[in-house]
Amino acid sequence: MTELNAIVESAKAAFGQAATPADLENAKAQFLGKTGRITELMKGMAALSVDEKKSRGAAINLSKQSIEAALTERRAALAQAELDLQLKAEALDVTLPGRKRGTGSLHPVSLSMERIEQIFGSMGFDVADGPEIENDWYNFGALNFPEDHPARAMHDTFYVEGGKLLRTHTSPMQNRYAVQHVKKHKAAMSAGETMPEIRVIAPGRTYRVDSDATHSPMFHQVEGLWIGQNVSFKDLKVVFTDFCHTFFETKDLELRFRPSYFPFTEPSAEIDIQFQAGPLAGRWLEVAGSGQVHPRVVENFGLDPEQYIGFAFGVGADRLTMLRYGVNDLRLFFDGDVRFLSQFQ
Ligand code: PHE
Repeated sequence: MTELNAIVESAKAAFGQAATPADLENAKAQFLGKTGRITELMKGMAALSVDEKKSRGAAINLSKQSIEAALTERRAALAQAELDLQLKAEALDVTLPGRKRGTGSLHPVSLSMERIEQIFGSMGFDVADGPEIENDWYNFGALNFPEDHPARAMHDTFYVEGGKLLRTHTSPMQNRYAVQHVKKHKAAMSAGETMPEIRVIAPGRTYRVDSDATHSPMFHQVEGLWIGQNVSFKDLKVVFTDFCHTFFETKDLELRFRPSYFPFTEPSAEIDIQFQAGPLAGRWLEVAGSGQVHPRVVENFGLDPEQYIGFAFGVGADRLTMLRYGVNDLRLFFDGDVRFLSQFQ
């Protein structure tokens, strides 16, 4: 084997051993670099005669070309290997099941609210919405609360800055809605027409400093108000009984109107229900406060209490939801545990 052939062979061997592009470039330098073996041979030609230079130069060039070809081939092989490795590392397993987005559902209390709106809607009640941060007038004053009523105390009410408070019930919506209603029909009323009846429910969040298995600092109420010229306690009984039968999908329950006190109704009653069958059968359960709207409250609507009369109620929407679904701890509604919530889909 000639000296040149030996160099070519050792270059091929060195390139073959190079495991990375960097190794390969180092190996290349040994043969084709400034002090590489081929380069040195070229330099060595200076001493030769012109004829010798020709043949020697041609031979060296051939060897150089072989080495370059081997180098190009090895570069391509290494690049391909690198690509293969990368493709393997980044491979997608298209057989893996995708990540599914769970289908959400409405909260059980929201389901109840919707149901309550639907039922009262079918009885001709409008649905009204109002602020959760109230002022003293709507929450207490307009509702005939005396100045020293315990519900106004810090231990019951969340006061916020500027004399405002988190509404302790949905009853402030009575005055907010009625005053607008009266305003709307004022002209017709002064012309001697009678006012169309006020028939409204106001569902929403309410707040009290209270927390145990059946009370939470934030809870839900639905206010009801029906004012007309001839609306009596009897109508309240009929409407509320009808509502309970529809809401609980059974007529197999009793209602009891238990005398009570609210500053804004007179007479007043707590409404208790008793299921005649099922797991809750036989127990009286309180679901709402109610009563005939107090003359002073009617007056605050801008109406003559001698002419207009009616009833109001405030039903606990969380309580209704607990009864409907047999939930025994109110706090479950507010924990946000999907295992609980997904049962109401
Ligand atoms: N607002 C009363 C409460 O929160 C309930 C109620 C509403 C009572 C309307 C009478 C009339 O307890």
